[in-house]
Amino acid sequence: MWTKQHMNDINNTINKREEQLSLPVVEEAKLNIKNRRYLGSKYKMLEFIWEVVKENCSDVETVADIFGGTGVVADRFRTEGKKILINDILYSNYLSYWTWFSDEKVDYKKIEKMINEFNAVEVTEDNYMSIHFGDTYFTMENARKIGFIRQRIEELNDSLGFREKAILITSLLYAMDKAANTVGHYDAYRRKLDSTKQIKLLVPEYKDTLNTGNIIFQEDANQLVRVIKADLVYIDTPYNSRQYGDAYHLLENVAEWKKPTVTGVAKKMIDRLQIKSDYCTAKAPTAFADLISHIDSIYILVSFNNMAQKGVGRSNAKISAEEIIETLGTRGDVKTFDLAFNAFTTGKTKIDDHKEILYLCKVNRGIQNDGTKGKIL
Ligand SMILES: C[S@@+](CC[C@H](N)C(=O)[O-])C[C@H]1O[C@@H](n2cnc3c(N)ncnc32)[C@H](O)[C@@H]1O
Repeated sequence: MWTKQHMNDINNTINKREEQLSLPVVEEAKLNIKNRRYLGSKYKMLEFIWEVVKENCSDVETVADIFGGTGVVADRFRTEGKKILINDILYSNYLSYWTWFSDEKVDYKKIEKMINEFNAVEVTEDNYMSIHFGDTYFTMENARKIGFIRQRIEELNDSLGFREKAILITSLLYAMDKAANTVGHYDAYRRKLDSTKQIKLLVPEYKDTLNTGNIIFQEDANQLVRVIKADLVYIDTPYNSRQYGDAYHLLENVAEWKKPTVTGVAKKMIDRLQIKSDYCTAKAPTAFADLISHIDSIYILVSFNNMAQKGVGRSNAKISAEEIIETLGTRGDVKTFDLAFNAFTTGKTKIDDHKEILYLCKVNRGIQNDGTKGKIL
């Protein structure tokens, strides 16, 4: 039996739903440093890395992350109040560090407005991106939009500070990653265009109060260590022959925006010499020895992944665990920490062939500061 009261209750419920639906959309998530796919990202190991440093290192105020990649490791130290030096050979990463780690003043309202305008734009004309990358890594529509937005950022150059420009480009690069028809890098795209998501730029989440005194570089790490000094130097080199400049050529291309000729099925820039890393070649052990011998710090912390054996294949490691320990041994005593062991002592899970390892060296041997070139810190 339905009574008037039932009808009133039902009406109230329906009205409530309608009210909720018509509420303004809850503010969209902001862009966060970790919102990207990156080969070898240590995002899942951040607590392990921090615990090892917290338990075993004292007097660490400055941390140099000299193969920074996404920058998530430096970011973890930053949230502990450490001063950061961050570096990567890739320009796309360098721009993202300006977004996350710089304290250069930014007109946030202006940035938000521009990002909203970029998202609203509809592009029907072809451009560099759609001609070369339409219906490959991106839908034609997304490729046109990426090309248009990147060109617009360039045209706005004179009205933007360097960090403001870096923020817009970073937001675009992260949005590209979300919409890309790939498994997370640009060595290849899927034959079937299965990511048709519309590209959408997000405004980054800023933590500028933590950024005082941070320093950002785009250098070959081996050159950089000759001129910097930090309490702890964190090292996370590429560990096999896969060049990051090849895997992320498209992000470099858009970051630099020189519109180079591209080649092959993967449409890579022809000239990638500047971003080739010795750590992906047989020179890795020599480069590592040179790097370690020039570090000026109290601690050196090295990430290593023992999944691949040293060998000649593409996925094989270019440097062995023994070589790392021996080289670090020239600078001080070395302790080893093993994530697999720490995380799986219950015996429930077996991941024998996949261990993330940290080597921590307390520096007490070798040249600490040869007093040559003026050190930056
Ligand atoms: C394993 S990744 C680092 C990942 C990073 N720890 C993270 O969590 O995102 C290695 C990085 O080293 C950079 N790289 C390679 N050779 C370099 C060199 N000689 N100097 C500076 N950076 C280099 C690559 O571009 C890549 O971003």
